[in-house]
Amino acid sequence: MNTFAAPKGIPDYFPPDSAGFRAVRERLVAAATNAGYGLIELPIFEDTALFARGIGESTDVVSKEMYTFSDRGGRSVTLRPEGTAGVIRAVIEHGLDRATLPVKLAYSGPFFRYERPQAGRYRQLQQVGIEAIGVDDPALDAETIAVADAGFRSIGLTGFRLEITSLGDDTCRPAYRQLLQDFLRGLPLDEETRARAELNPLRVLDDKRPEVRELLTDAPLMRDHLSDACREHYEQVKLHLGDLGVPFVENPRMVRGLDYYTKTCFEFVHDGLGAQSGIGGGGRYDGLMAELGGQPLSGVGFGIGVDRTLLAAKAEGLTVGDPARCDVFCVPLGEKAKRRLVILAGELRAAGVRADLAYGGRGLKGAMKAADRSGARWALVLGERDLDAGTVGVKNLADGEQTDVPLDQVIGRVSELLQH
Ligand code: HAM
Repeated sequence: MNTFAAPKGIPDYFPPDSAGFRAVRERLVAAATNAGYGLIELPIFEDTALFARGIGESTDVVSKEMYTFSDRGGRSVTLRPEGTAGVIRAVIEHGLDRATLPVKLAYSGPFFRYERPQAGRYRQLQQVGIEAIGVDDPALDAETIAVADAGFRSIGLTGFRLEITSLGDDTCRPAYRQLLQDFLRGLPLDEETRARAELNPLRVLDDKRPEVRELLTDAPLMRDHLSDACREHYEQVKLHLGDLGVPFVENPRMVRGLDYYTKTCFEFVHDGLGAQSGIGGGGRYDGLMAELGGQPLSGVGFGIGVDRTLLAAKAEGLTVGDPARCDVFCVPLGEKAKRRLVILAGELRAAGVRADLAYGGRGLKGAMKAADRSGARWALVLGERDLDAGTVGVKNLADGEQTDVPLDQVIGRVSELLQH
């Protein structure tokens, strides 16, 4: 019979690796909640127009990568390719912006992009993100970046760098865009790149081909054409990052794949990942809320790729999370012992000890193998004779040493042992 495989590019997460995945996600979320971000859970799919308008029709994400389908009522819906548009939709819909500003929200979960799958690039990707809405203060941009930085460092990562730039806003970017377009029109570019230059000239700066990069050496850069206000904003962000001790490099050629960005933009790049080196990115998006029908409030945030962060941790040789399924593994020898250990495992769990049991009566050898595989530090071995004596064997699975402990004291004893 044919078996099934997950759809192409869609990962499964299972033990023991899922422990690392969960730990990475939890630490990134903890960095956000530590800075006053409250959790928001968003729908996995939304009205297609929300993403088309929010992210930009000319982006690859919208034009090539969305999972779009009609529901049974004939409405066009799309699996969320990113989180920012949905957060802003929810803020507008529920009037969250009527509270004290900024509204600070954090989220985690799966997102969907029909990209070409490869190592570190999936069609279902996992992000932890934050958004701070309603205050245009460069110190908030710096805080956003510092939260991501703290999240990565709490995992133990060190082999990454932060790149920042400013993309200006609608007071200076249109003139710069024109300037860049004029420059690009004068270059001997292939037809596809010319078309891109007409549609979205900034994206041409991201071309990876050496011959095109060469042509772009003298291209005008947004950084040199910022309005006074945008330049001052950018200087302030850098100042605050310095105060916070967050190291960064400037990358005036940074191109983000989403159109809503204004002013500050940033990316975290990890050296150990090969082509898919972006472990997180974000920036300010001061026009998005008005674009989506809300009041003209500013916003700044990031999305961190949980999958790539876990790969980065592995590349650095870090162990993240506890792959052990339980702390204590109960090994019954015989039916009576099993009945007693089923009860004891329940009591251990109630006392906050992760406990599992060898089911299926597979004998001492098989049960001890299962105990080792579970990652438990201790096994509780109970036979008929122990039952009669009212004791249980507490076996240290690291060195094999075993001592007898009275059954009615074993929960306290095990809890004590696990403290060390
Ligand atoms: P993004 O740069 O498109 O930004 O995605 C953020 C992160 O998600 C990337 O840096 C990367 O680590 C991860 N990621 C993206 N695509 C994939 C993929 N196909 N496979 C694995 N990981 C992936 C955003 O999504 C913005 N919403 C971030 C933001 C929030 N900007 C402001 N607020």
